[in-house]
Amino acid sequence: MTTFKTKTITIGLALGVAVVTLTGPVQADVNAPLAALGPPPIPLDNKQTPEKIELGKLLFFDTRLSGDASVACSTCHEPKQGWGFSGDISRGYPGTIHWRNSQTVVNSAYYGKLFWAGSAKSLEGQAPSAARGGVAGNLERDIGTARLAFIPEYRKRFKDVFGDEWPKIKNAWRAIAAFERTMVQTDTPFDKYMKGDKSALSEEAVRGKGIFEGKANCIECHNGALFSDQQYYNLGVPRAETWLDNGLAQITFRFEQYAKGVTQKMYRSIKDDAGFYYRTKQVDDKGKFRTPSLRYTLYTAPYMHNGTFFDLQEVVEFYNEGGGTNEFSANKTDLIKPLNLSEDEITDLVAFLESLSGDEIKMSSPKLPPYAPLPNPVK
Ligand code: HEC
Ligand code: HEC
Repeated sequence: MTTFKTKTITIGLALGVAVVTLTGPVQADVNAPLAALGPPPIPLDNKQTPEKIELGKLLFFDTRLSGDASVACSTCHEPKQGWGFSGDISRGYPGTIHWRNSQTVVNSAYYGKLFWAGSAKSLEGQAPSAARGGVAGNLERDIGTARLAFIPEYRKRFKDVFGDEWPKIKNAWRAIAAFERTMVQTDTPFDKYMKGDKSALSEEAVRGKGIFEGKANCIECHNGALFSDQQYYNLGVPRAETWLDNGLAQITFRFEQYAKGVTQKMYRSIKDDAGFYYRTKQVDDKGKFRTPSLRYTLYTAPYMHNGTFFDLQEVVEFYNEGGGTNEFSANKTDLIKPLNLSEDEITDLVAFLESLSGDEIKMSSPKLPPYAPLPNPVK
């Protein structure tokens, strides 16, 4: 069972009736019980083919899709770092550091909204904002298109997969999205348990599941097969230390405020990430972030939008204390309260969280095709 549904929307037009079927992640059911994870939704206009996935993989690892050809998606989404970045705040484009923790791309195919504050609606739309964002890939579309054109192997592959006479950059994002849709994990100990293999979870983990769904009420937000209701909350996650002492991090932080169009006053005074607010400009949304999935988290430390917690035990202790405080604590959800968990209960809960990850998904960088001069004259 998955929490995603196929939506059929019928639009009446003057000349007749068009039926548009969208198969994609829709808003998760906020009351969905925990469940095994099924295959990810595939958009009808970007079908999976082995050739497209293979092209997407090459592009995901190819640094030439960034401004100075030094960062690839895989630079900040490293297979060996849980397909994220090792530090609390991600590295950035050379000369910058990022302002948020890098998320794993594993299971990103299931979300209806991507990024910590949900600002991208699809993987196809997310990839160009990552590749072109000033503190990520900083790529100009035209130079990206030119670089692809000068790689004969890509010319051939784009032609085979998309029918492009010359590689279109928008198809690069579609191929990357297709590759990301293969980066899913549906065979964790938890999934096996839910499908009937009762030996797949340790006794500790089974007790932890009970605490997750009961006393600790984590399921209030981390629900369904993805362990996310895809809603936004302020938990009072404390400020990352990096903000206090790293000038470069401050520069990115102020730049992002400016880019997102906050008021002069907020630009000057803000000290915490306002999250969902940047999208809605509603004061009540300051400091809210999208509930992340808890799958694959065994490999994705550190945690939270600013990477402020370094292991799962620390995260559970944070919840046990009733969350924390930040600049926008006025918006802190009252769903977070002190839990009074004993040390044993904390251990059980951590064991359950660990059962939401299967084997580490390993991959080495593929050999990338080289540049070559264009045929002369260009045909
Ligand atoms: C310089 C580092 C960097 C690079 C390069 C980068 N990313 Fe990211 N990625 C991040 C960070 C940091 C976030 C979280 C940002 C946020 O929420 O504002 C993120 C978020 C994501 C997400 C959202 C996951 C989720 O759970 O919502 C996806 C998917 C993703 N990146 C894919 C890509 C792809 C594809 C590329 C290459 C085109 C790429 N990234 C390049 C750092 C990077
Ligand atoms: C009110 C909704 C809500 C409840 C209840 C809740 N969470 Fe969360 N959880 C979130 C949100 C939102 C975030 C991201 C917060 C941020 O980055 O500021 C998060 C983040 C996390 C993370 C970090 C994941 C990552 O990829 O960085 C873990 C682990 C986690 N929660 C586990 C739990 C556990 C265990 C419980 C129960 C003790 C719980 N959560 C209860 C909403 C909730």
